[in-house]
Amino acid sequence: MTQLIDGKKISQEIKDELKEKVAGMKARGTERCLAVIQVGNDPASAVYVKNKKKACEYIGIRSEAYELAEETTEEELLELIRGLNEREDINGILVQLPLPKQIDEDKILLSIAPEKDVDGFHPVNVGNLSIGRPGYVSCTPAGVIQLLKRSGIEIEGKECVVLGRSNIVGKPMAALLLRENGTVTVCHSRTKNLKEITRRADILVVAIGKPKYVNADYVKEGAVVIDVGIHRMENKKLCGDVDFDSVAPRTSAITPVPGGVGPMTIAMLMHNCVEGIGE
Ligand code: GUN
Repeated sequence: MTQLIDGKKISQEIKDELKEKVAGMKARGTERCLAVIQVGNDPASAVYVKNKKKACEYIGIRSEAYELAEETTEEELLELIRGLNEREDINGILVQLPLPKQIDEDKILLSIAPEKDVDGFHPVNVGNLSIGRPGYVSCTPAGVIQLLKRSGIEIEGKECVVLGRSNIVGKPMAALLLRENGTVTVCHSRTKNLKEITRRADILVVAIGKPKYVNADYVKEGAVVIDVGIHRMENKKLCGDVDFDSVAPRTSAITPVPGGVGPMTIAMLMHNCVEGIGE
């Protein structure tokens, strides 16, 4: 029997745990506040930002929204971030990506104080993850680890294959699976004999950004498949990077799209806002 990994349910569990924790913090006189910055009016970004604000409200985190015009200059954005870095009442700063073309994304991410970088995108946090030091971890791959753990899937000693090598998902995903004592292989669109490699996986995480790219030929019987992709098809329905209908029957567990990895990203952002860097 294939286990369907329910990201909606697991993300709700996490949000409820955080809500309780925040209530306790408030009773002791501490509050959390996230600053969310959006530049321009990309419709997808607007939806993400709205959902982040909603999650903050649910959990009891104060949020400050900065909605800046499309023609905002790099210097104006840097100035805003400098101010937020210095404010003691703000403990998380998030700049929604992508940014308009006149603004250098790397420069902006570097300007966020690493101890407020709840997205885990600053090179200091990326570096800390890679050498096993405490720091903020990118939310989507952190969410994948939670999906596995809370579904009772062991990582230690398993053959883990990550398909995709982005800075936001593939690379931190590999580092996290390694931290959980998985045996990790990273492959990508230019990998030779890709199917041979993905077929070795006990746990296959797919983040290649191509709709229904992974079919049954890529998957070993009994594998766990985690689909990070999300695409809108011509018929308006959503699909992932995995061809769910052909792959699911071969797996021991799989995430659906929607309702798998998607809801976990915001839950883990909220986790980062509440818990901070940890010890
Ligand atoms: N744009 C798409 N995904 C993300 C994300 O996780 N964080 C930010 N800041 N921007 C994004």
